[in-house]
Amino acid sequence: MAFREPCDNTFSNNINNAIPYAPLLDSTVVAEPPQRRRRRRSSSVVLLLMTGLLGVALIFAVVRFGIRHNEIGSRSSSLETRRPAEMIVPADRGVAEGVSLKTFGRLRGARAYSWTNNMLAWQRTAFHFQPRKNWMNDPNGPVYYKGWYHFFYQYNPFGAVWGNIAWGHAVSRDLIHWRHLPIAMVPDHWYDINGVWTGSATILKDGQLVMLYTGSTNESVQVQNLAYPADPSDPLLVDWIKYPATRYWSPHGVGPKDFRDPTTAWLTPQGKWRFTIGSKTFELLDGVLHAVPGTGMWECVDFYPVSRVMENGLDTSDNGPGVKHAVKTSLDDDRNDYYALGTYDGTTGKWTPDNPNIDVGIGLRYDYGIFYASKTFYDQEKKRRVLWGWIKETDSEAADIQKGWASLQAIPRTIVFDKKTGSNVLLWPVEEVERLRVNRKVFHKVEAKPGSVVSLDVGSTSQLDIMAEFEVDQEALSRINGTNTTYSCTTSNGAAQRGALGPFGILVHTDNDLTEQTPIYFYISKDSLGNLKTFFCADHSRSSEATDVNKAIYGSIVPVLKGEKLSVRILVDHSIVESFAQGGRTCITSRIYPTKAINEDAKIFVFNNATDATITASLKIWQMSSAYIHT
Ligand SMILES: *[C@@H]1O[C@H](CO)[C@@H](O)[C@H](O)[C@H]1NC(C)=O
Ligand SMILES: *[C@@H]1O[C@H](CO)[C@@H](O)[C@H](O)[C@H]1NC(C)=O
Ligand SMILES: *[C@@H]1O[C@H](CO)[C@@H](O)[C@H](O)[C@H]1NC(C)=O
Ligand SMILES: *[C@@H]1O[C@H](CO)[C@@H](O)[C@H](O)[C@H]1NC(C)=O
Repeated sequence: MAFREPCDNTFSNNINNAIPYAPLLDSTVVAEPPQRRRRRRSSSVVLLLMTGLLGVALIFAVVRFGIRHNEIGSRSSSLETRRPAEMIVPADRGVAEGVSLKTFGRLRGARAYSWTNNMLAWQRTAFHFQPRKNWMNDPNGPVYYKGWYHFFYQYNPFGAVWGNIAWGHAVSRDLIHWRHLPIAMVPDHWYDINGVWTGSATILKDGQLVMLYTGSTNESVQVQNLAYPADPSDPLLVDWIKYPATRYWSPHGVGPKDFRDPTTAWLTPQGKWRFTIGSKTFELLDGVLHAVPGTGMWECVDFYPVSRVMENGLDTSDNGPGVKHAVKTSLDDDRNDYYALGTYDGTTGKWTPDNPNIDVGIGLRYDYGIFYASKTFYDQEKKRRVLWGWIKETDSEAADIQKGWASLQAIPRTIVFDKKTGSNVLLWPVEEVERLRVNRKVFHKVEAKPGSVVSLDVGSTSQLDIMAEFEVDQEALSRINGTNTTYSCTTSNGAAQRGALGPFGILVHTDNDLTEQTPIYFYISKDSLGNLKTFFCADHSRSSEATDVNKAIYGSIVPVLKGEKLSVRILVDHSIVESFAQGGRTCITSRIYPTKAINEDAKIFVFNNATDATITASLKIWQMSSAYIHT
């Protein structure tokens, strides 16, 4: 779906103006049977739908849009009337209700670990965005508005598990220090009574802000709703009005629980606002932006331009010869965020991938660790595109309830096209996070012989920003004989699987005798023709003595161009570690739940488990102060 901007009406931001919103062009936008609506192209609502090959489709529609000022909808009501969530734990929280699985759950057969309050207190982060307590998931409607970065998020006001989903809200001047605001929207109408689910912000041409979001109705049907600020002159956007007359239902052929998470809208050359909604469909219909067979339900779709030539980010409506378009989906089936680059034709409304072999959902990922339901926004103040992503817990739900909170947001990342490779994006923590750096330590050319571990004395290691470069002994690189055995981070034995040219890297959250350790590392493989491939991985298999936390090994290949050193940046913030290789070509976010390697008992090391090559590491390491995240 999409909206069309009302052409002749100006929405005024003037506080003295009694009519901040223009009248509706046509108020007949209320429910009609989707089959009929689909065929019409009237001045009210036109759902232009949809093609799909077998598999998934990005549904794509156009609608005229406007808000009548005197049809004031529902203000977000206060929370006092809501009942607290019950704490009985279903096995698959979320799925029956029509969203992706929200619990990590205990590993089958694993014994529940007895966490101490000290361990749980350590897990809470110091410079990542979190609500004071309770459950959080997807980022919603991020936007820069009148001098403030606004961040909304899926939030359960009543507990540390998924449920009662409302829109939490916070504002910031710099994306790092936050002020919590009252909940922006709660489930209080039949069209969102089962949850005010994920949505996106759109700033119309005249500066008016609108939110599109998915509501789960009283009958658990997913419909798309619209909300707007009660007072557009309020830079904090505290009060929201749900627009009463506009509901977009799933079109014919799309399941009522398979139609959610509208994107930010963009303006087409025809002057229509369009946006996309992810789905899965098995019918041949007209009007999908793109579909990839066999990839299941697409959640939290994102669609945006990146510049092939300039450094800056682009507004969502920008297009032209120097522009590529990214499509991102969060795959319900494996709960990872996949993207692909391609070309968008604003006239035909079609997006074509640059390389069909790495199409959306079958190729690249933003992050190979725990990172889901992400969403970008264009920051018009700093001319950059910024990515938010949800980092869930991978411990037991019982532990989350004990600590009173669950999950958090990754440090916002700028996202740009990688002009050097031409085939991927680069993700990098926003520059503002560097203002938290204190106490820099520099380690110049630390040598790590095959099979060695070198301690780095940096004092406390719970909050760090690590920049490291590695050089591999050139003589060894050319001397060793290549083999054609394939390597994969995820199926390897992690840092304990020794090869001629790897693994080597950094151990974080590691106690003195290395019983708990989390290696973040490179692994180089050489084939029999001498071609090198570099992998970037994170090994959680020994990250905790607890038996009921995730201990997977994550990672993927990372492109390394001729003349480039191997480089990694690692942001350590208690139970979160975000790692960026080669300037952000391959990223891995880790949730780590140590029992011993915490507080003063945690150290960091350079390690080299290659059998044949000496590694030289040069590092800059800062401690990070805490961000101010308060009421
Ligand atoms: C849901 O709400 C709609 C609109 O108010 C109403 O017509 C319908 O009967 C409700 N369904 C249930 C199951 O309560
Ligand atoms: C590489 O292979 C050659 C010929 O097969 C052999 O002579 C040499 O010892 C091998 N080098 C290493 C380091 O294994
Ligand atoms: C290794 O793979 C390359 C192609 O990647 C192939 O040309 C070569 O013959 C293979 N070598 C062996 C020993 O299988
Ligand atoms: C290096 O490999 C050995 C043998 O597999 C393993 O015991 C050791 O823990 C590994 N070192 C690191 C730092 O992971």
